[in-house]
Amino acid sequence: MTRLAPGVIISGTGSYAPSRIVTNDEISAQLDTTDEWIRSRTGIKERRIAGDDESTSFMGAEAAKSAMDSAGVSASDIDLIIVATLSPDMLFPSTASLIQTQLGLRKITSFDLSAACSGFIYALEVVSNMMRSDAYQHALIIGSEKISSILDWEDRSTCVLFGDGAGAVVLSKTDDTSAGIIDSYTGNDGAKPELLCLPGGGSACPPTIDSLAQRKHFLKMNGREIFRIAVRWMEQSAVIMLERHGLKPEDISLIIPHQANLRIIHALARSIKIPKEKLFVNVERYGNTSAASIPIALHEARQKGCIQSGDYVLLVAFGAGLTWGSTLIKWH
Ligand code: ACO
Repeated sequence: MTRLAPGVIISGTGSYAPSRIVTNDEISAQLDTTDEWIRSRTGIKERRIAGDDESTSFMGAEAAKSAMDSAGVSASDIDLIIVATLSPDMLFPSTASLIQTQLGLRKITSFDLSAACSGFIYALEVVSNMMRSDAYQHALIIGSEKISSILDWEDRSTCVLFGDGAGAVVLSKTDDTSAGIIDSYTGNDGAKPELLCLPGGGSACPPTIDSLAQRKHFLKMNGREIFRIAVRWMEQSAVIMLERHGLKPEDISLIIPHQANLRIIHALARSIKIPKEKLFVNVERYGNTSAASIPIALHEARQKGCIQSGDYVLLVAFGAGLTWGSTLIKWH
């Protein structure tokens, strides 16, 4: 069995959810949609929407504090922060540097990682490899999203799908190599960026009166096509990881998939022939929180006692890019 990072464990998990809950009925009062349509197509019943004082960095810092509490480490123990996000506070400086300051840290390594909804999986792979060096003992990976700030609230085909929030983990080195992060697999097919993108605001399309009028500063998505590709790559990412390690679906105790759509999650269960009960689902309460979805779900799974020592846990994601990936963990 290959091992990416000997003795690197997830020593703590945490999350932050804005207090404002927006139900499907609330959206239906403003837009030509219904609770029935949203629930039957996506499984989503409600989502959290951040307030003006809840920025991506603020939510990320709160999730990080909760993860550090759970790991029993303090901010001064952290020597690396990676933030996975597609809704940073600003293009630069990075949200990681803003969070670092909010945590009272200076002179550590921190940066943002852009892989959309697969960002947390990508970050696990990057950090696991970085922790092979002696430079890092404890690292924070934070997935934080204020997607409500880039949604077109007049576009019913996208705005009903997403929500805000943050999740975080502390990765720590240990001498015990019998458990931890075993392996990560990531991929990206950049051939069709237009399927899911934010066209405006970057250097290719800076803000102008025209770009604002054309609503280019909002998330655009071809839902039907993304759905088709997502099912394929979620399955592939899971199968590749199982095959690499000679594991069968029944060897996995819990799969935590990216929480985009219940139908995609159920299609994954069918295609890899694993009972639905082994897939952790909370999309009904959060919607799609992009890079935050897996760390939020991982934290909830631990809180609910769904993960025991010795369990194999498989994380699987897909997102804009189009990116995909999986991480295999043997829980310590
Ligand atoms: N309420 C009512 N009707 C709607 C709504 C809505 N909120 N949204 C779309 N419709 C209509 C459409 O206009 C269409 O009407 P038409 O047939 O008259 O044109 C009809 O519903 C059916 O549209 P479809 O696109 O066929 O609906 P579908 O069953 O595919 O469900 C959905 C749409 C939910 C978006 C689905 O395609 C999906 O989940 N795709 C994947 C999206 C996803 O996971 N994105 C996240 C990617 S991760 C990341 O990196 C951010």
